[in-house]
Amino acid sequence: MPKSIDAKNNRPQAADTLAFFQDLEPPANDFLQDAVNGLSATPKNMSPKYFYDQKGSQLFDAICDTQEYYVTRTEIDLLKSLIPTLNKLAGPNAAIVEYGSGASVKVRTLLEGLDHVSSYLAIDISRTHLINACRVLADDYPDIAIGAICADFTAPIVLPPMSREKGNVVGFLPGSTIGNFAPKEAGAFLARAAKMLGKDGSLLMGVDLKKDPAILNAAYNDKQGITAAFNLNLLTRMRGELGAKLDQNTFCHKAFYNDDQGRIEMHLQSETDQTVHLDGQEFTFSAGETIHTENSYKYGLEEFAALAETAGFRAKHSWTDPEGLFSLHWLEVHTE
Ligand code: SAH
Ligand code: AVI
Repeated sequence: MPKSIDAKNNRPQAADTLAFFQDLEPPANDFLQDAVNGLSATPKNMSPKYFYDQKGSQLFDAICDTQEYYVTRTEIDLLKSLIPTLNKLAGPNAAIVEYGSGASVKVRTLLEGLDHVSSYLAIDISRTHLINACRVLADDYPDIAIGAICADFTAPIVLPPMSREKGNVVGFLPGSTIGNFAPKEAGAFLARAAKMLGKDGSLLMGVDLKKDPAILNAAYNDKQGITAAFNLNLLTRMRGELGAKLDQNTFCHKAFYNDDQGRIEMHLQSETDQTVHLDGQEFTFSAGETIHTENSYKYGLEEFAALAETAGFRAKHSWTDPEGLFSLHWLEVHTE
């Protein structure tokens, strides 16, 4: 149970326990506008950022525990094995900034392994999950200044002073969240991150690798159906928050590797001809038609390094796990 609750709308408050909290949560109307635009488009689509209300964040955490989703355990093991190297690269008293921090599980490896971290700033769009995760961190690491910004990280964000106090600024973007952008948008995101991190900044990134499509298809179609529930939660949000009139039971989860594009695609597929009502408008679906809800791009090591270099970073180091499933990259902001 969160320590203090805003009685009016039952949302946890953060300023009381965190070293810093900034609330830039996007207005509810953005979701409505994007849903209307996405259902009006051909093919129909929605941004994956709308997966993450509290329920969606919890479902994502459950995906990370599935046998099929190798990403989380592989990345944590790789991070642990690299601590001595990362320690040298980050230097003492690093100020860590995580983009899309979720439950802030992976960063614990850095908070515990690096030679004193001075501050940790978590940025995420999923407000309640963010605040709750940062509160637990603040309790667990009382010597580290823990702060949070609830924001859409595709918008420009200014780093608060807590992140520049002592050591180097180290961005952290694990989980291959970068893969949820198309490569061009990924480059634009990285260029913004380079500006935000500043001239001596670095960025430690987790990037999922191209591999046997059978492994990828299994990872996004887990047997327990958690990824399916995560995808379908988008429709629950549209009903609950936007008043959309639709029957979730007439849509199903569809995920597959698109070899030509080098990406997993997730879709919500209509099983029947039907009409969805939203914001006074009607959106017709024919049986089999989908809403494209997520791309998860997979990279080669050099392919990703080249992308980072075009976005204002020097790609200094990269590492993979022994099976070559996943990679970590150390990027440094390039200054002339
Ligand atoms: N870093 C964690 C979580 C990754 S899941 C890990 O590696 O396991 C992706 C996270 O990014 C989610 O917590 C989601 O809420 C957040 N996210 C997705 N799109 C976002 C956006 N546009 N702005 C801010 N946060 C976003
Ligand atoms: C957050 N992101 C990197 C995950 C991924 O693998 O693309 C989201 C996810 N979608 C389905 N499973 C996990």
